Amino acid sequence: MKADEQMKETVLKGKNISFKYGNSIILENCNFAVEQGDFTVLIGANGSGKSTLLKICLGLLNPYNGEIELFGKPIKEFKDWDKIGYVSQRIDAFNKGFPATVEEVVKSPLYAKSKFFNRDKKLIDGLTDKALDIVGMQDYNKRLIGRLSVGQQQRVFIAKALVNNPTMVFMDEPTAGIDNKSEKEFYNLLNELSNDKGITIIMVTHDYTDVKDMVNKVFCLTDGQIAEQCADIPD
Ligand SMILES: Nc1ncnc2c1ncn2[C@@H]1O[C@H](COP(=O)(O)OP(=O)(O)OP(=O)(O)O)[C@@H](O)[C@H]1O
Ligand SMILES: [Mg+2]
Repeated sequence: MKADEQMKETVLKGKNISFKYGNSIILENCNFAVEQGDFTVLIGANGSGKSTLLKICLGLLNPYNGEIELFGKPIKEFKDWDKIGYVSQRIDAFNKGFPATVEEVVKSPLYAKSKFFNRDKKLIDGLTDKALDIVGMQDYNKRLIGRLSVGQQQRVFIAKALVNNPTMVFMDEPTAGIDNKSEKEFYNLLNELSNDKGITIIMVTHDYTDVKDMVNKVFCLTDGQIAEQCADIPD
């Protein structure tokens, strides 16, 4: 290991994480660590608990045993949520009449952030435009989100996750519904964010082959256990 790698801050740590829905155990004693700048993928079969694990890391679900640390702090004490972006797994397309425009969706995390942002419309609009530009959706900013195609909606949610300039992003199958060409462009973008800006990425994907040259860490969930680098990674 290189000297500079040894210095890297651990930005996410799971210690003995165990989780169940009702009586059904999903995760058992999972230990893992992600360092600053890691491009990490989490793979595993349908139902293995990938989305559940991401939600635990984000404090949206509580494990019955174990602890998550974010940027060195127990999650209960962690306050810098604007450092973190999240694209959840797409469940369903938006209702056609959902009353928000693309730009309203993308800028919503900025309004939640601070009084400073609330007063500075120019800054908010600038950050929103930049995030929409990254995903190629700037021409759609005034459109109702519900009237977009599923893949376009997904791009908007990726823009929303990036609008705060987060230092760590969690993405749960972010390219589901996105066509092949755009998917490749999106992975290149993630690679750039990781290499140039040192953003830490934790991504659930079923397309490991497409990203294997970019990622430096692979976690695999099987039977409630997490393993780093699994033996049966598809080639
Ligand atoms: N809210 C819930 N209540 C009860 N069981 C749930 C709930 N959410 C998920 N499960 C179950 O927990 C297990 C893990 O689900 P999870 O969504 O984390 O899997 P996943 O690895 O993300 O799957 P996929 O690849 O299909 O997205 C599954 O068996 C699922 O049916
Ligand atoms: Mg899932």
